[in-house]
Amino acid sequence: LDAVTQTVQWLEDCPLFNAGRGAVFTHEGRNELDASIMEGRTQMAGAVGGVTIVKNPILLARAVMEKSPHVMLTGRGAEQFALENGIETVSSAWFYTEERWNTLQKMLEEEKSKTGSLTHNPDYKFGTVGCVALDQSGNLAAGTSTGGMTNKRWNRLGDTPVIGAGTYADNNVCAVSCTGHGEYFIRY
Ligand code: GLY
Repeated sequence: LDAVTQTVQWLEDCPLFNAGRGAVFTHEGRNELDASIMEGRTQMAGAVGGVTIVKNPILLARAVMEKSPHVMLTGRGAEQFALENGIETVSSAWFYTEERWNTLQKMLEEEKSKTGSLTHNPDYKFGTVGCVALDQSGNLAAGTSTGGMTNKRWNRLGDTPVIGAGTYADNNVCAVSCTGHGEYFIRY
């Protein structure tokens, strides 16, 4: 669990990936972040969706798992839980990268030129990050973090905060962290 948490935290801090710093932008030009973590031995899990001020959403997902009676928290409530539990918060500027901003502008322009239709190009690489680990005792753990999809709207959540879709771990079966178009993972 520690290896998964640390690895995902590093990837969130790296601006190359669509998670934490470097996350993609929503239609309104914000960063809304999702993350989840699961322990295969106990089947304990934690997830957060649509957080905007939490530097490392994977740390908040782990806190949800370990310090709350719940599995999934979203939006302002999740941020309130972060503040109450000493999880580091940042201004929205922390997440900004020029490349992700330019991608949003390109998609908005494309959208304008195609009257009324939302652009969802399946060739875009989303760059969600994840990690799966197996320890010497056979314990599995998995974690995932993402900014979701560029130009997402309406508080869209993908598979990443959904246990059993974006993240899953069971010592008797497998551990999985998914990347790709979240709607498909949720359906299947
Ligand atoms: N797999 C990440 C997302 O669709 O949000």
